Amino acid sequence: MLVDGTPYRTVWLEGSTLKLIDQPQLPHRFAIIDMPTHHDTARAISTMIVRGAGAIGATGAFGMAQAALEAPERGFHEYVAQAARTLAETRPTAQNLFYGIKAVLKAIEAEGDHVGQARAAAVAAAQGVADDDAASCEAIGRHGEPIIQDGWRISTHCNAGWLAFVDWGSALSPIFAAHRNGKRVFVWVDETRPRGQGSKLTAWELVGEGVPHAVIADNASGHYMARGQVDMVIVGSDRIAANGDVANKIGTYSSAVVAKANGIPFYVAAPTTTIDPDCPTGADIPIEERGDDEVRWTWGWTEDGRYEKVATAPARSACRNPAFDVTPAGLIAGIITEKGVVPASPEGMARVWRR
Ligand code: MRU
Repeated sequence: MLVDGTPYRTVWLEGSTLKLIDQPQLPHRFAIIDMPTHHDTARAISTMIVRGAGAIGATGAFGMAQAALEAPERGFHEYVAQAARTLAETRPTAQNLFYGIKAVLKAIEAEGDHVGQARAAAVAAAQGVADDDAASCEAIGRHGEPIIQDGWRISTHCNAGWLAFVDWGSALSPIFAAHRNGKRVFVWVDETRPRGQGSKLTAWELVGEGVPHAVIADNASGHYMARGQVDMVIVGSDRIAANGDVANKIGTYSSAVVAKANGIPFYVAAPTTTIDPDCPTGADIPIEERGDDEVRWTWGWTEDGRYEKVATAPARSACRNPAFDVTPAGLIAGIITEKGVVPASPEGMARVWRR
């Protein structure tokens, strides 16, 4: 997508250095940050310099390519196997991360003991994961766009725009497409806590594309749904179980329940690399529990341009911080994938998943 007229992806490899958009600095500063080794890349995922299912999938894949370039000839396979473990341990929920790592590992293993060829295969496979993610998200936009009617007001939760992928995004891709096609769309943007990825990232993307929107506190979306001011909900996903249950950013489940109660169609948009055929139901999806400091504190920019941390809860209160929740398939009108819109059901998932 364009940033001040220049096209960017969220992640790319130059030589053996990984380049990332430094997401915690947004919306106040747009900066590119270098990750010289796969260890740095793993840290960028765990500290959420890069986040979002597709973006960390491609980052994990490029991290594997870096490991293949770094590895000594002797002990090459042990080194990349260890790198795969390190990268896989960075975050537990997003299926795309494991998909990206495995895709590159498979390409490396296919070259046997030809280390030079394995290095080249790793770089090509990682680039393939990134290109595939960008193409899938673009196709999600094409398949999802016809669902959106002129004049619709759409609610989305958290950031499933292009920053969460390599390009285009999942939930925002049909919205970007509808807007570019001249439909009048308006977006209600939430996830203002705990990390503010709706207010910081989704809002920044919508400003960039010129899509009319309003940031609302997380607890306000039900109010607008009940008042008839939301025509549709579209969210992304970090992992979809084989029965169509969907894990996404904490707060998604509540939004789906209120949408159902008000007869509002609730769609999920995700590339098929997000579907985990080995995860039977949503109850089997590992849910990341992040540090309580994200709830106890908040971070932001002061009017005079300083990045500050301020307390939002008593120091002696316990806090809990699940990063994701599960929305049961029965609440979902459809899953918009790069292969088309499918029902959130075992049959729908089996029709499109990648084994
Ligand atoms: O914790 P994150 O930021 O890596 O979580 C991903 C998300 O931003 C959302 O859950 C998003 O809607 C999923 S779509 C990539």
